[in-house]
Amino acid sequence: MKKTSYSLLRSLVTLALLLGSTKADPHPLQDYCIADASQPFYLNGAPCINPSLASSSHFTTSVLSKPGNTKATLFGFSVKLTNVTNLPGLNTMGLTMARVDLDPNGLVPLHSHPRASEVTICMKGNLLVGFVNTSNYVFTQLLRPGESFVFPKGLVHFLYNMESMDSAVAVSGLSSQNPGTQVAALAAFTSKPPLPDEVLKKSFQISNQDVARIRRNLG
Ligand SMILES: *[C@@H]1O[C@H](CO)[C@@H](O)[C@H](O)[C@H]1NC(C)=O
Ligand SMILES: *[C@@H]1O[C@H](CO)[C@@H](O)[C@H](O)[C@H]1NC(C)=O
Repeated sequence: MKKTSYSLLRSLVTLALLLGSTKADPHPLQDYCIADASQPFYLNGAPCINPSLASSSHFTTSVLSKPGNTKATLFGFSVKLTNVTNLPGLNTMGLTMARVDLDPNGLVPLHSHPRASEVTICMKGNLLVGFVNTSNYVFTQLLRPGESFVFPKGLVHFLYNMESMDSAVAVSGLSSQNPGTQVAALAAFTSKPPLPDEVLKKSFQISNQDVARIRRNLG
């Protein structure tokens, strides 16, 4: 009797831990909550329109149908994301889709998403992807079209197009409607206001000139 209730308790605790550890954004309390982007107040998410006004167009977007401008970044990549403005039906669903385009040898530099894990599928090209775990061990994989890879939540990761002649395309799903992105190099060297030089010099064991040069290079 005692043994049974103990093992029941243990399975309940295990179940609770498992469920708790797989939570993405909070669950919706209704079928949908189509974002009303015109509302000027702040919520954790966006307020919703009257559900009786929902239409198919709220649940569809063509924002990922075309590549972004890969020349707008130093690194030769562009990312297009769904969000509550261009896909209002996404509100409260805990999801984002992304389209990543990479020039020949283009790089999505080391970055992290503080609020989402990510699964990416290579659609075109020859992509080297990887992440660094919190013990600084690196996991990498070469992806060919149709192959996928998971970047665990919050961990620093990259995507690199190995081809020097051809562009590459990947599509990602992220487990938050607002995953957030922090690019390591830009956070360190192009923040506003700038981080104190002393902090950067000590952090990276570099000189004043190195700090100035990296800032200049990153624009
Ligand atoms: C959603 O993305 C578009 C670009 O597709 C951008 O103009 C808009 O500001 C973004 N909205 C939010 C809420 O981030
Ligand atoms: C990171 O990966 C290495 C290699 O598999 C492993 O030894 C280490 O325990 C991992 N760290 C964490 C925090 O999972």
